[in-house]
Amino acid sequence: MEDLKEVLLSAVTEAGKIMLHYFNGVFQIDHKEGINNLVTEVDKHAESKIIDIIRARFPSHTIISEEVGEMIKPSDYQWLIDPIDGTVNFAHGIPICCVSIGLLYNNDLILGAVYNPMMNELFFAEKGKGATLNGNPISVSRKADFKTACLVTGFPYKWPDSREHPIKVFERIVLEGLPVRRLGSAAIDLCWVACGRFDGFWEYNLSAWDVAAGYLIVQEAGGTITDFDGAPYNVFEKETLATNGLIHEQMLKVVQGKKI
Ligand code: IPD
Ligand code: CA
Ligand code: CA
Repeated sequence: MEDLKEVLLSAVTEAGKIMLHYFNGVFQIDHKEGINNLVTEVDKHAESKIIDIIRARFPSHTIISEEVGEMIKPSDYQWLIDPIDGTVNFAHGIPICCVSIGLLYNNDLILGAVYNPMMNELFFAEKGKGATLNGNPISVSRKADFKTACLVTGFPYKWPDSREHPIKVFERIVLEGLPVRRLGSAAIDLCWVACGRFDGFWEYNLSAWDVAAGYLIVQEAGGTITDFDGAPYNVFEKETLATNGLIHEQMLKVVQGKKI
C-alpha cells in the first residue's frame, strides 16, 4: 500500500504544480460538448504527467481519465483521474479547482487524494484509516438541525432527464431559507463536506473521476454517501448525496421532491 500511496501523492502534487504554474496565465482553452464545457491545455498537460507517474511504477494497472478516456488492462487496480476538477473556474482564474485521483482495488475504493494547489489544501484518505487535510485528521460536521445546515450543489453542463429537475430541488431548499453554495468543483464540494465546512452536498450526473477520491474522503471522515434513494453509492452511480450523516434522511426527502 505504501508504494501506491507514494505514487498517488506524487501524481497529485506534480499535477498541482502544473496547475499553479499556469493559473491566471495564458493557456489554450478548447470547448468540448457544449460551449461552456471547457478543456484547457493545462488539463491535458497535468493529465499526461499523472499518467506518466502511474505508468512508470504500475504499467499493468487500468487507468480511466477524463480527457484520454479508458486504458483498460487486465488488472485489479483502476485509477480514476480528473486532472482538473473545476476547469471552468480554472479558466476564469477562480481558485476553486483541484486534481482528483481515486484508486479502486477489486472495485473497492482504497485510496483517494484531492489537491487544490491554489489554496494549498491536500485532502487524502486511505480505506479504514481516516481522512486528512494537509496531514491533519478531519471529520464531518455535527449539525443535526437541517434548517440551519449549510449546503452545496452543482449543476451539469447538459440538463439531465432526472426524476426531480435539479433547479426544482435547488429552489425548494433556497425557499426554505437555507444557504446553498455552488462552487463548481464536485471533488472540492465533497472534501468540504468531509472537513465540516458544508453539512451536505448533492448533484446529479457526475462522472466516476469527479467523485472517486471525494467519496472515500467523505466516508473516512465519518460522512454518509448514497444515491437519491438512500441506497449504497458507487462511483459509477449518477446520483450523489453526501452528508454528515445526521441530516441525511432530510436531504433524501428534499432530493426526492418530498416535503421537508
Ligand atoms: C465538473 C465539476 C462541476 C460539476 C460538473 C463537473 P470538470 O467537472 O465537478 O462542479 O458540476 O458536473 O463535470 O468538467 O470541471 O472536470
Ligand atoms: Ca470533473
Ligand atoms: Ca476535469
